[in-house]
Amino acid sequence: MVDDELVKTIKEIQRKIDYEEEQTYSKVVIREYRNPGNFGVLEHPDAVGMIKGPCGDSMKITLKVENGIIKDARFWTDGCGATLACGNKLTKMIKSKTPTDAAKISQQDLMTSLEGLPKKHIHCATLSVITLLETINDYRKRNKKKE
Ligand code: FES
Repeated sequence: MVDDELVKTIKEIQRKIDYEEEQTYSKVVIREYRNPGNFGVLEHPDAVGMIKGPCGDSMKITLKVENGIIKDARFWTDGCGATLACGNKLTKMIKSKTPTDAAKISQQDLMTSLEGLPKKHIHCATLSVITLLETINDYRKRNKKKE
């Protein structure tokens, strides 16, 4: 009996959380942060970048680049759900692009592809794009040394 009550309470809390999420975030943001398939760190990456944002949260991006094309990308963050969505979406957007083209993706491009972010989470998109730029910078530095 107690278990039934507990299950009912948990389901009610989950329903409220889901409702609040749906009121706050776009469907794309919810989909990306509930299933962040690109979360993680690549072993032996060709580029690494890590940035701590003004909110105190960090993001790390690792890339595999073959023949001048981004073949794989992963992100790690200790940030909020919006940051998970941004990191996941951004690492999807850059696959099969050259590092130069990936560096052209703006915060606005990322936000558009996510169908918007609440005002208080715009900096999460900024953190993601800046981390990507840092990662591409690392790629350029490593490749300069080889030349
Ligand atoms: Fe800090 Fe989203 S990155 S709140």
